[in-house]
Amino acid sequence: MPVNIKAKLISKEQLKPDIFKYSVKADEITSVAKPGQFIEIRVNNDIEPFLRRPISIYNMKKEEGILEFIFQVKGKGTKILSERREGEEIDIVGPLGYGPFKISNYQNIAVIGGGIGVFPLYELSKNAKKENKNVNIYLGFRNKDLVVLEEEFKGVSDKLVITTDDGSYAEKGFAIDFMKKDIEEKKVDCIFACGPLPMLKAVREYAIENNIPCQISLEEKMACGLGVCLGCAVKTTKSSKENPEYWHVCKAGPVFQAKDVEI
Ligand SMILES: Cc1cc2nc3c(=O)[nH]c(=O)nc-3n(C[C@H](O)[C@H](O)[C@H](O)COP(=O)(O)OP(=O)(O)OC[C@H]3O[C@@H](n4cnc5c(N)ncnc54)[C@H](O)[C@@H]3O)c2cc1C
Ligand code: FES
Repeated sequence: MPVNIKAKLISKEQLKPDIFKYSVKADEITSVAKPGQFIEIRVNNDIEPFLRRPISIYNMKKEEGILEFIFQVKGKGTKILSERREGEEIDIVGPLGYGPFKISNYQNIAVIGGGIGVFPLYELSKNAKKENKNVNIYLGFRNKDLVVLEEEFKGVSDKLVITTDDGSYAEKGFAIDFMKKDIEEKKVDCIFACGPLPMLKAVREYAIENNIPCQISLEEKMACGLGVCLGCAVKTTKSSKENPEYWHVCKAGPVFQAKDVEI
């Protein structure tokens, strides 16, 4: 069950001009949360903006009850959040999402992410590595200035490929192409993905075509985050004109088997 807590902001780090890493004390959440789950943050204590903002769990230090999340400033909500100071309390609901990443059945895994979608993949990869899995990670960014967490992901992988669309850093091109090339040489048991929709679509299509289990995390726009407002519906592959079938990303996800949802 998610809890609503006031979590003390222990440390605030600016990773890029508009990307921040926050560490908060949140024992009640870290004691039960799983990789792939997320939290909903009330960005300030004022009435406006009223709606909470969904942010993925990036890392958990369970023994200390520390929860870390990373966010990019996009609009009003994340801008206000970025102005919070160390020592302040942040109103958080979590952990949310019934569908965390499921790794236990797989030994050789490919993890692929892009942009802000890379954040929830760290806790997943860290846990997989702890379980002695073979973890190959492919992270795509638009350009050099947006590359984050290279050292962190290196520390939880057997192989890490960083790509930039324009070739301004590391490999030039799309992360998926490097993943495909590796899979041609060595089969993987499951692909885990989170990132921009075009990337997720391409990964989903490739996995289905090649019969590879694939779990994708959808970062749909959300309002309530609790399955009440219908703001985050995603069509299931069983859906038809006569029997439309949707799931709520906030409740049933955010992680789905790629073959089960239409994106
Ligand atoms: C399950 C989940 C996990 C997420 N995890 C992270 C995370 O770890 N780090 C992170 O930086 N962001 C994450 N996001 C996205 C984040 O929630 C949005 O960027 C944020 O809510 C925008 O709020 P805002 O008030 O700053 O922007 P708004 O003023 O609401 O919007 C500003 C711009 O951002 C766009 N936007 C709003 N919501 C989203 C969204 N969900 N996805 C993409 N674009 C959006 C709007 O279309 C608009 O162009 C996650 C979203 C979901 C649903
Ligand atoms: S955000 Fe309201 S139902 Fe999912």
